[in-house]
Amino acid sequence: MTICFVTTNRGKYEEASKLLRSFGIRVEWVNQECVEIQSDSLEEIAKRSAQEAAQKLKRPVFVEDAGLFIEALGGFPGPYSSYVYKTIGVLGVLKLMEGVENREAYFESVIAFCDLVRGELEAFSGRVYGRISLEPRGSHGFGYDPIFIPSEGNGRTFAEMSTEEKNTLSHRARALRAFASWLRNRRLV
Ligand code: IMP
Repeated sequence: MTICFVTTNRGKYEEASKLLRSFGIRVEWVNQECVEIQSDSLEEIAKRSAQEAAQKLKRPVFVEDAGLFIEALGGFPGPYSSYVYKTIGVLGVLKLMEGVENREAYFESVIAFCDLVRGELEAFSGRVYGRISLEPRGSHGFGYDPIFIPSEGNGRTFAEMSTEEKNTLSHRARALRAFASWLRNRRLV
């Protein structure tokens, strides 16, 4: 089974294709920008993007939307993570966190799958809890990976892990596993 992932993010594509391969699902990468609505809900953003992409490409697709939610900042940047990354970046986020003792944060990922012919629009989510580091560390991954330390990662940031290791505990991997098991059951229908 081959399934189409619409994203401009190579890192996301690599994580998804490696993880879904272990479920016997091949990922075809469509390197195209998705329409992203403004909303406080990752699910709403992802579902709308999936619908638009499925309409445009005239085939079933999935997209993914993620956000970093920092407790001491009231969940910021959350759904605005992309804008914050492009404007102030990881160093800007560290600056906002200067002198802040509570560094608890989580990543959330929402995958939305849309098949217009079958009338399907489904969402799957995953979370990983951790904390914001004091300085950026590591050279793997992308985005906020150098400043996010997952609770179960022996104190290393995501950027200090290989894709395979990040895939054992990341928000995206959890959402992808839920998606994969739904796809498996769907094939029987
Ligand atoms: P997007 O809107 O889902 O592409 O992601 C929002 C922002 O969070 C972007 O700046 C991404 O680089 C960043 N981001 C998304 N997922 C991850 C991740 O797994 N690790 C680190 N940063 C991420």
